[in-house]
Amino acid sequence: MKRVLSGIQPSGNLHLGNYFGMMSRMIKYQEENDLFCFIVNYHALTTIQDKKTLSKNTLNAAIDFMALGLDPERSTFWIQSDVPQVCESTWLLSNIVNVGLLDRATSYKDKMAKGLKPNVGLYSYPILMASDILLFGGEIVPVGKDQKQHLEMTRDMAIRFNQIFGDVFVVPELDIEKTNQLVPGLDGQKMSKSYGNTIPLFGPEKAIRKRFMSIVTDSTDIDQPKSIDTALYQLYALFLNEDEQKELAERFATPGMRYGDVKQDLFECFWTTFSPYREKRDYLLNHKDYVLGQLKAGAEKAGAVADVYLSKAREAMGLNYGDAIV
Ligand code: ADP
Ligand code: TRP
Repeated sequence: MKRVLSGIQPSGNLHLGNYFGMMSRMIKYQEENDLFCFIVNYHALTTIQDKKTLSKNTLNAAIDFMALGLDPERSTFWIQSDVPQVCESTWLLSNIVNVGLLDRATSYKDKMAKGLKPNVGLYSYPILMASDILLFGGEIVPVGKDQKQHLEMTRDMAIRFNQIFGDVFVVPELDIEKTNQLVPGLDGQKMSKSYGNTIPLFGPEKAIRKRFMSIVTDSTDIDQPKSIDTALYQLYALFLNEDEQKELAERFATPGMRYGDVKQDLFECFWTTFSPYREKRDYLLNHKDYVLGQLKAGAEKAGAVADVYLSKAREAMGLNYGDAIV
């Protein structure tokens, strides 16, 4: 049994990319592992600076995750800021990280390239993420491909810390989804909240159907075979097993196929697949006290683990001065 750990930002409505890249895999992992999962609202502060938006998105993300199958009674599930020890360990780790490492972080470089003025929080984001992982002894960290660099940085920090101060932290393994490396968005780019090209997991039927209908397709004539190297095929394939994927590929290869029909079918497939989750979500929305109680219990369990690693790190670094000989 391994400790599998991952977090997700409450920076907007969760979407199919989040689901297939990370959430569904976490939910599967919980069957045979010691799962640690959290909503990273400290990280979201780097971009959301509005009280109502952040608090609403945070609770929403927690409810969505539980609706999709994350079982807080079996796994450890909490809100990042309910275990503030991660802030202390972020400071401890900050002292072993070279500025050059953070300069190379792609998420930061991308924002700079877009002309945004990043705050210090965004700059040190990878250290907070490393804290999230190291403070709970995460062994396997399932994330989408876009988080690979952050995980490599985490490994570097753990190795460096252990070299300088002795073995304190577990060096985590990367676990990047190999088949569906990145879920495409409506426009074919990576589906991302920041690109406005997402298909949300929950919302009114009409609005979500409209999103599916707006998946970008090419202008291949109806009498011609259609390419499967497209967002429409790739999105549909996420819901299908191997045989069904072959059938879909044949449908694309057969002249006469209308993109509009495929989009309708894909929407129906999505809507049916997510129907039990919508019901569970409605239930949880009506039982907010249960949700809050589970999150509180999760934070207590996670906090106890954090305390152990933090006290080892403090001791190793010389912050416990009581036994010093003067
Ligand atoms: P976003 O890019 O929409 O802000 P996040 O950065 O909050 O998404 O990502 C949360 C998790 O979902 C991460 O593990 C990330 O790798 C994964 N993820 C996000 N978008 C995709 C995508 N298009 N395909 C696969 N995984 C994704
Ligand atoms: N940076 C991750 C993202 O944007 C979220 C995250 C924060 C995370 N802390 C983590 C993921 C710890 C895995 C483990 O998706």
